[in-house]
Parts: sequence; structure tokens; C-alpha cells
Amino acid sequence: MIKIPQIMRAAAIDRFGGPEVLTLHSLPVPVLDPQEVLIRLHTAGVGGWDADMRGGWWPEGKPRFPFVPGTDGAGTIAAVGSRVRRLNIGDEVYAYSFNNPKGGFYAEYVAVPANCAAPLPEGLDLKRAGAIPTTGLTALQGVDDALQLKAGDTVLIHGASGGVGTLAVQFAKLRGARVLATASGEDGVALVRRLGADAVVEGQTGDIVATVRLFTRYGVDAVLALAGGKQLTRCLDALRKGGRLAYPNGIEPAPRKRNGIEILSYDAVPGVDEFRRLGDAVARARLRVPIAATFKLTEAAKAHERLATGHVLGKLVLRIH
Ligand SMILES: NC(=O)c1ccc[n+]([C@@H]2O[C@H](COP(=O)([O-])OP(=O)(O)OC[C@H]3O[C@@H](n4cnc5c(N)ncnc54)[C@H](OP(=O)(O)O)[C@@H]3O)[C@@H](O)[C@H]2O)c1
Repeated sequence: MIKIPQIMRAAAIDRFGGPEVLTLHSLPVPVLDPQEVLIRLHTAGVGGWDADMRGGWWPEGKPRFPFVPGTDGAGTIAAVGSRVRRLNIGDEVYAYSFNNPKGGFYAEYVAVPANCAAPLPEGLDLKRAGAIPTTGLTALQGVDDALQLKAGDTVLIHGASGGVGTLAVQFAKLRGARVLATASGEDGVALVRRLGADAVVEGQTGDIVATVRLFTRYGVDAVLALAGGKQLTRCLDALRKGGRLAYPNGIEPAPRKRNGIEILSYDAVPGVDEFRRLGDAVARARLRVPIAATFKLTEAAKAHERLATGHVLGKLVLRIH
């Protein structure tokens, strides 16, 4: 039995602002609806979208303060709603819920719909599982659903040294694609090579189009774009006629339309089947999860300062319990 307190510690904001507005709060532990589970968190992911929301970007609805950021994490089920059958108290789970109505994951406890949580995938501990729900679903759904990569396809993954890209490279390889990647900095290039990309080019200084031509004569079949801007236009130049480009919403600036190229944007979606597919891919790929730094819950503002500095190779996480 896990004894659930009434009050918990959370990193929250009372107004929008810089990293300094993110401070430790004492807040009520969320009360469960029948279809929800309460997770005692071990690890929470820290992503660029958390910083965007802290700074005042709001996806929909009206913000309510105090606001607890955080879209994902992992921990142990502390309580289940009366209609939940699939998960039990004591199960170790990882979970993704964007703009969760009962508060985010920068907290000791989070209440999420049961279909937004799933048992830990084989081969990952709580820390690594807690780092990947958002980025893992985004990477896998980019590879499988948006681009529908098949064995033998060639794909260019742009921005492969970040949270989503480090996982997308491994999932694309798992599907049998030939993977060319752009990464940031020589350390980013080295990391993405170690993760299994067939060829890697530095994305700010390298010649993306020339590297693609050496890799495949007529251009790549597909691009997964995880960074926007001028170099993304070069990635479009590197596509073959009739090729396709997919990007998760949030890439700024988004790619412009181009004749003969299919461009799709998408959002990561949680769900029972989605997590089953992710768990299967994680196990089969023997997924490696690069974690650039770990912060305590009390250091959430520091974690956001680190995000703002940029050049995070892989992912940042908060260690909670
Ligand atoms: N809609 C959704 O459901 C959803 C879900 C998850 C993520 N997203 C979006 O997807 C994007 C990627 O997320 P993420 O967590 O992977 O972000 P991230 O960790 O910041 O990764 C982006 C990577 O691209 C690199 N990069 C930037 N410019 C480059 C260039 N010219 N060449 C090569 N690499 C370059 C960055 O390196 P430096 O940091 O060194 O510049 C960074 O490593 C974000 O825009 C995010 O908002 C959307």
C-alpha cells in the first residue's frame, strides 16, 4: 500500500515569465475521477514545450494558476479510479498527457486518464522510461504513421541530436530504413552516429544537399523535420520528386509548401494501442535513451535555464522520488 498524502510538492508558476517564475509549491494531491490513475512520480521529462507554456504560449482553453508544467514521466500507480481495470496499485508505468487538466508532471503525484499510462517497456528503468513518453510517441508516430517508413526507404532526420531525433533514428533503423541525419555540433554528430544512423552531417555548417547526393543519387524518400528554419529548406531540396516530409507541430518556422512534395504535420497521440506499439518498438530496438542532465524537483527553474542555453543532446529530466 502506498500512503497518499493530501498535500504534495510541485514546481509550479503563479504567472507567466522566465525560468525564475517556476518555484516549489505545496499543492493538493489531485483527486481521481473514475477513469483516472494517480501516479507517484519517480521521473518527469523536461521539454521545450514546457518552457513555451511557462513563458505564456497556451495551446487551448484559459490558463489557471498555479500551473504545474510537465507532459510526461514515470512512476508507480498509487491509486486507481473505480472504473480502471487495466492498471493496478503498485504497477510501474510511464505516461503522456499534454496540458493535463489536473496539473502536469513536475509534481510528486499526477492524475491522468488510465489510457494515457502504460506499463514500463522492457529494458527501460523508471528514469529512462520517464524521459520518453512525449518524445517516444512523437518519434514512432513520425516514422510509422506520418511517413510510413518501410524497409529500404531512405530518410533524412533533421535535428537528430535532440529529444525526439535520438529516438527517431533508432525507430527508423528498426523499420529497416537507411537513415541519414543532421545533428548539431560535432558532439551531436558523434552521438547520432553511435545511435546507428548510416550517415550524419552537421546541420548548421555542413552541406546537407551534397551529403544526401552521396548517400542516394536521386534524393531521399522522406524527411522527418525536428528543427525549423533555413537548413530545413535545404532538407526539402534533398527530397526526391514525389517525396514526403513530416514534422510535429511546434517546429518553427514550419516548412513552406512545395510542388510535388507532400508535407504533413502531426501531434503525438497517447492511447492503449499507441503505448503498446511504443513498448514493442522500444524492446525490439533495445532503445538507448540519451539523458543530458538530471535535476531535482527543487531545481526545475535550473532545468529551464539549461533548456534556454540550448544544445541539449537527448533529453533533460527531473528526479522526483
Ligand atoms: N506536436 C507534438 O506532439 C510534439 C511533440 C514533441 C515535440 N514536438 C516538437 O518537435 C520539435 C523537436 O522536439 P525535441 O524535443 O526533439 O527538441 P530538441 O531536443 O530541441 O531537438 C531539436 C534538435 O535539433 C537541433 N538542431 C537545430 N537546428 C539544427 C540544424 N540546422 N541542423 C541540425 N540540428 C539542428 C537542435 O540542436 P541545438 O539545440 O544544438 O540547436 C536540437 O538538438 C520541437 O519543435 C517540439 O516542440 C512536437
